[in-house]
Amino acid sequence: MRLVLPMVLMGALVLAVGLTPATPPSNDAPAGFDNKSNGLVDDATHQADQTTFEEVEQISDGLGPLYNAQSCRECHQNPVSGGPSQVNELRVGHVGSKGEFENPAIPIADGKEVITGRTLVNDRAICPNGAYRDTEIQERAPDTEKVRTFRVSLNLLGDGFVEAVPDQALIDMAKEQCRKSHGKICGVALRVPVLEAPGETAIGRFGWKDQHASLLSFSADAYLNEMGITNRLQPDEVTNLCNTVSEPNDKVGADGLSDIDHFARFVRASKAPPPDHTLTVTDKAKRGSEVFDKIGCNDCHVRTMTTAAAGTKVNGGAFTVPDALGSKQFYPYSDFLLHDVGTGDGIVIPVPEHYGRAFAKYAWKEMAPNNFQPTRYRMRTAPLWGVRMRTRLMHDGASLTPRDAIVRHKGEAEKAANRFRTLPAADQQALLAFLQSL
Ligand code: HEC
Ligand code: HEC
Repeated sequence: MRLVLPMVLMGALVLAVGLTPATPPSNDAPAGFDNKSNGLVDDATHQADQTTFEEVEQISDGLGPLYNAQSCRECHQNPVSGGPSQVNELRVGHVGSKGEFENPAIPIADGKEVITGRTLVNDRAICPNGAYRDTEIQERAPDTEKVRTFRVSLNLLGDGFVEAVPDQALIDMAKEQCRKSHGKICGVALRVPVLEAPGETAIGRFGWKDQHASLLSFSADAYLNEMGITNRLQPDEVTNLCNTVSEPNDKVGADGLSDIDHFARFVRASKAPPPDHTLTVTDKAKRGSEVFDKIGCNDCHVRTMTTAAAGTKVNGGAFTVPDALGSKQFYPYSDFLLHDVGTGDGIVIPVPEHYGRAFAKYAWKEMAPNNFQPTRYRMRTAPLWGVRMRTRLMHDGASLTPRDAIVRHKGEAEKAANRFRTLPAADQQALLAFLQSL
């Protein structure tokens, strides 16, 4: 017995050691292209929210009159719902007499109406149709609108973690980056309105121009401007020609939520884009990862970020960081700041389009009249998580390979791009292999 007892004890000890993880549980944000929730809601709720995100809207639901697509998924789908896609949209404007950017004036219906306050030119319209045979409302870029660009669809997966980064972290990052580079790389942390918190602002982080801080605000904006569905945060139609369904088109459901609430929750509950685990462990990708830091790509394409603790209020107080999104580390490869890398499209954020026609009604705190001017030639650092799933790179989708995208970087990123050019061929290949693993 004397011998057996210690052995039993030892067995228990070994078992206990075997069960205790060597490292504390990871606070990494869950990642995966698996349509599963990150823990914010249960999988059934997430699936139901995804169904709303994928729903194909009809004219009887309020689609249009001007629109780009019938469902969020049409543009956010690769490789799963919520990812990016090749679909792009058209934005135009012109330079005014004082050299400043001005929003376009787009006549429709043979000039009976002029659409203003947006830079977006919708590619589709619901009429002429059987009920309106003679009403032709197709938007087209007029010759006079000489500032023109495409903007390609963005990834939404993992954006709940991005939303949960405190404003101050982005402001501090901008300062530190500028200090460290002796003023050569100074990202702009842009203050934008939060539609669901009238009068409040937060630091923008979504869209190619950081035009929104809140996923609910972005969902309301997209529902109106991409699909023509008015909602409680964007209640005004772009045109009333051919309009038949009463506003807001997005009605409150039996669960007390509107479609925009389901969209925002779908995105908030999505997992981050996972890296390609087969490639990340290769020597080539590991070497490429070192090169990425060495030549300064990570000055803007910041590897690691951490969300605020659960219970922190963000979005001007309108959203409280839930447990599933609190104190998580994630790997976006972006600082979410605006930079001039020589590719800027010349377009300033159009205020009525993104923040609503009633924008002027509210006193938005901390917003100077020229608040949006820095967005003219600056773009948000493109997050590189999931970049291997993209076929058309940069805001306009005009760079078809990562190498093309890299050598297009100028301005604040000129030095990094030049260092890439002068790398030994093997290091260039390693860097590209690393990007391929993201
Ligand atoms: C016609 C294509 C299209 C449709 C439909 C569409 N989007 Fe987008 N989405 C885009 C494009 C293009 C961008 C980038 C726009 C920009 O910044 O100019 C974008 C950006 C976004 C972003 C910002 C993501 C980020 O990380 O910066 C969110 C959130 C978003 N869309 C949500 C939605 C939701 C919700 C719907 C459905 C209501 C929707 N989108 C419908 C094309 C589309
Ligand atoms: C000064 C900040 C900055 C630096 C430094 C920088 N980038 Fe970028 N990067 C950006 C911005 C801003 C964009 C978006 C530009 C646009 O869309 O016009 C971008 C876009 C990209 C894209 C396209 C991604 C997509 O989804 O379209 C890739 C790839 C990329 N960068 C890789 C790199 C690499 C590799 C390096 C180092 C050689 C680097 N960048 C250095 C700011 C930077």
